[in-house]
Amino acid sequence: MILITGGAGYIGSHTVINLLNNNYEVVIFDNLSTGHIETVNMLKSIGDIKFEQGDLFNIKDLENLFSKYDIEAVIHFAAFSLVEESCINPQKYYINNVIGTLNLLNTMLKYNVKKIVFSSTCATYGVPKTLPIDENHPQNPINPYGNTKLTVEGILKDYDKAYELKSIILRYFNVAGCDHLTRIGEWHIPETHLIPNILKSVTEKDKVFKIFGTDYDTKDGTCIRDYVNVEDLAEAHRLAFEYLNKKNKSDIFNIGTEKGNTVKEIFDICKKITNTNIKVEETQRRAGDPPILYANAKKAKEILGWTPKKTLYDSIKTAFEWQRKLTD
Ligand SMILES: NC(=O)c1ccc[n+]([C@@H]2O[C@H](COP(=O)([O-])OP(=O)(O)OC[C@H]3O[C@@H](n4cnc5c(N)ncnc54)[C@H](O)[C@@H]3O)[C@@H](O)[C@H]2O)c1
Repeated sequence: MILITGGAGYIGSHTVINLLNNNYEVVIFDNLSTGHIETVNMLKSIGDIKFEQGDLFNIKDLENLFSKYDIEAVIHFAAFSLVEESCINPQKYYINNVIGTLNLLNTMLKYNVKKIVFSSTCATYGVPKTLPIDENHPQNPINPYGNTKLTVEGILKDYDKAYELKSIILRYFNVAGCDHLTRIGEWHIPETHLIPNILKSVTEKDKVFKIFGTDYDTKDGTCIRDYVNVEDLAEAHRLAFEYLNKKNKSDIFNIGTEKGNTVKEIFDICKKITNTNIKVEETQRRAGDPPILYANAKKAKEILGWTPKKTLYDSIKTAFEWQRKLTD
């Protein structure tokens, strides 16, 4: 059985569907702090999953979990991930993302579970020195959130050397879209990601979408990001788990499409898909936004055999259908 921490959240729940489709047994562990019971109930209607409500911070919850189920590996999504909040309240982030993960790893060791796939992020690279960003790019996070993820990466390296706990670290770029049947989707409160925020300006009255900075050195002056579809990302987790099972070797992979799109390009696709003249306000740059980020994901393609299959259009289309469901 595979343990999915944070499986009631956005990326974790999509990975659960992928694993169910590939006949894996899963147990979700989630404290529902940012995840949703409705998502868990939907997953239960799709397949035979187990759900344990609990907190990484509570060793007893972890002990109960590992003694109740025969866990062979962990895919670890549970974390807080709001960059701005992490700057205001770093303590909350270090406690949850670092100490929470240490509790998980130590319980894994106690129960002799030695395989983990970990959700890291391109935020660990900080402001890029070279583009596209490959896995050897220097890591200099510019916010506490990125620091917590980099800290865990370091812990995983040390735990491999000392205890032979093997890990696959996936550093994802921006994630977008939802389940193609719109059964689950992106449901962050507050929502800080670009695509759902543009779409909320369509589904929610009085919401005006803001572009932060139109004077960057890019083709139309707005920031460039690499948007990977969440179903493709879910597939990357399954492939990473299977690689780990087969090779029993730690490794690190970027997961992105290797294509960059500007905020204005995304906005234009949203206008087309929603057939709406979305209200927009152009404002100042936000501190800490690198102008351009996009991945070199050749390693994941060559070693994991992963290829992104969905287009940005697919992602925005499903995201819009989901957004309409959420506001209905
Ligand atoms: N969404 C993105 O664009 C993105 C990009 C790069 C990396 N990531 C990483 O991917 C992972 C998943 O992101 P997401 O967007 O699905 O977030 P999410 O908030 O939707 O999901 C996180 C889940 O973890 C649970 N959780 C948090 N702390 C917990 C704890 N202490 N104990 C038990 N459960 C806990 C939450 O309730 C939630 O269900 C995170 O680690 C995030 O840092 C996300």
